[in-house]
Amino acid sequence: MALISARTIVHVVGARPNYMKIAPVVEALRLVAGLRQVLVNTGQHYDEAMAGSFFRELDLPRPDCDLGVGSGTHAVQTAKVMMAFEAVCVAERPDLVVVVGDVNSTMAASLVAAKLLIPIAHIEAGLRSFDRTMPEEINRIVTDRLADLLLTPSRDGNDNLLAEGISPAKIHLVGNVMIDTLRRHLPMASLARLEGRVPVEDKRYAVLTLHRPSNVDRRETFVDIMQAVRQVAAQMPVVFPVHPRTRSRLHEFGLGPDFDGVILTEPLGYIDFLSLTSHARVILTDSGGLQEEATALGIPCLTLRENTERPVTVTHGTNRVVGTRSADIVGGFEQALRSTGVPRMPELWDGHAGERIAGVLARFLSV
Ligand code: UD1
Repeated sequence: MALISARTIVHVVGARPNYMKIAPVVEALRLVAGLRQVLVNTGQHYDEAMAGSFFRELDLPRPDCDLGVGSGTHAVQTAKVMMAFEAVCVAERPDLVVVVGDVNSTMAASLVAAKLLIPIAHIEAGLRSFDRTMPEEINRIVTDRLADLLLTPSRDGNDNLLAEGISPAKIHLVGNVMIDTLRRHLPMASLARLEGRVPVEDKRYAVLTLHRPSNVDRRETFVDIMQAVRQVAAQMPVVFPVHPRTRSRLHEFGLGPDFDGVILTEPLGYIDFLSLTSHARVILTDSGGLQEEATALGIPCLTLRENTERPVTVTHGTNRVVGTRSADIVGGFEQALRSTGVPRMPELWDGHAGERIAGVLARFLSV
């Protein structure tokens, strides 16, 4: 009898928003016989608070390879991932490379795999902000162009890909895998975890996150946003876990560190942050993932950007795109406090996306 060797899947993660997307997929694939999973961490993020703590809390296996690329300009970071990941692919000879989301590591790994003729599966395919000033939009377009399996979180993703001429045979609507992770960890989320660190009461505070270069790298925009935050903080405490990029800019622009009513913290781990967001009255953010988490949690969300690549969070969920002008943010906040609409959970944000993805990948590899 001929021995069939195990098929190898190489998963690539690198930055904070990647870990919660890969965890349910790795777990679901453990149940598939005839598969060998290799986890590669590019090290795009490297601080304990931005990376290490997520591996532990999300029960991710220790990465089989750590590429240690660290920070740099877009070209430097992308090139470093490409150089190191090419060597991994040559050594591991994967049957499939799985990439998630839209960070530089996602695009860099996809370019390497495509040139080595290794099939690519892209989880969270099809999202578009139609704003090419966002580095993530470039990463999304390139990755989707190269991928053989495009696993979309919502139907708008399918529509975008079809409009770009991508073959329907490659596109699979699987739902939102990040919501699998959220649902799994929600029972562990409680304000008691934050006691002594973040003095707030259930539903009586706002959460703020900011890290987009377009919001924090330009002094005028950042100042305008913080003016609005001051007005929000006059009504309820605002908890602001500060991303490293944002901390540098606060310092560089001479803003803060004290803002009345604003509680600044270090970046929080996954369960601490979920504890914070799930008990908040309102969330103000420029993150993509947090717009989705707010929708799943049913918490009003104001997106401090001019657009979103996640329109389903607006049409179905709790999200409103308010821009970055001070008056618009404050107006959006007042409206959020008055809002009574009941959000609908988008299709297939049901906690089983990881299993559906595993099914698609297993069929592709015939295992
Ligand atoms: C990256 C992603 C973005 C994602 C975000 C989540 C790209 C193009 N951007 O942006 O899509 O939403 O991660 O956080 O891939 N730094 C640290 N410690 C770390 C990591 C970064 O101090 O562990 C500092 C460095 O000074 C670095 C800066 O933060 O220069 C920005 O990090 P970088 O990975 O370049 O981009 P992010 O803004 O985090």
